[in-house]
Amino acid sequence: MECWVAGQWLQRSASGRDKASQAAQVDVRRAHSARVYDYWLGGKDNFAADREAAQEAIAASPGIVEDVRANRAFLARAVRFLAGERGVRQFLDIGTGLPAAAGTHEVAQSADPAARVVYVDNDPIVLAHARAMMVSGPDGSCDYVDADVRDPAVILKAAGRTLDLGQPVALMLLLVLHLIPDADGPHEVVRSLLAGLPAGSYLVVSHPAADIRPDSVAEMTRKMNQRLKGPKATVRGHDQVSRFFDGLELLEPGVVQPPQWRPGPDEPAPPDVTIWCGAARKP
Ligand SMILES: C[S@@+](CC[C@H](N)C(=O)[O-])C[C@H]1O[C@@H](n2cnc3c(N)ncnc32)[C@H](O)[C@@H]1O
Repeated sequence: MECWVAGQWLQRSASGRDKASQAAQVDVRRAHSARVYDYWLGGKDNFAADREAAQEAIAASPGIVEDVRANRAFLARAVRFLAGERGVRQFLDIGTGLPAAAGTHEVAQSADPAARVVYVDNDPIVLAHARAMMVSGPDGSCDYVDADVRDPAVILKAAGRTLDLGQPVALMLLLVLHLIPDADGPHEVVRSLLAGLPAGSYLVVSHPAADIRPDSVAEMTRKMNQRLKGPKATVRGHDQVSRFFDGLELLEPGVVQPPQWRPGPDEPAPPDVTIWCGAARKP
């Protein structure tokens, strides 16, 4: 079954990568960030190595499951707010993750059925599922791009097939920037992406926090990094996460924990979520 999933993707891929390099990337013997996250969210698209890593992380930081659920709730609130109250009709969601309830296109298209969404991820299994399950409503559109967030020019060019880059776009970077090490310049990557979007665009970020429950977060990150295939996670403090919004108009309530970002009246508010998040407008 595990090979079947990857095999399906190899047949469907339109990314242009050769089959050998695609197959090399689907290594189910090592944990992968997308599939560990899927396990925490109660999904079924994960393998034994992912489940073991996820359980080890839960042992080190028992609140992690509530934390990632709070992140998904933030995603939905941010998209609903931008689509419903700020009139944003285009979303560029990088580091999409495996399909989960209330995805960006579902929330955006419930505000405006004509909303357009481009999903970007560099994991072949994520893209296989996205193509199959993240299907646009008839009036809007969704596209799926196989690219690395560290390649802004590639992403912007591909996004331009679906989005009008002369009109505002919400750039969504949720729980992905920690997978970009400092040496690869995550702040510069965000600046380059924003440089390709017009004034009136928005940046939405969530990022694991180094300075909330710091001991358990550090222990969880150390354990995850021993198991993760590919780039290791770098957790960052409030100051470093706030720097992603430099030069932008930060929306109220600023860079906060997800349950504090414009919560609905009935939303549960788990204490001490180990994530910083925020949204800002490009002037
Ligand atoms: C923890 S999941 C977050 C999913 C979703 N954004 C959310 O917040 O619910 C991280 C995702 O980022 C993707 N990812 C990791 N490194 C990436 C990179 N360099 N470029 C693009 N996507 C990346 C992973 O494949 C995974 O799907």
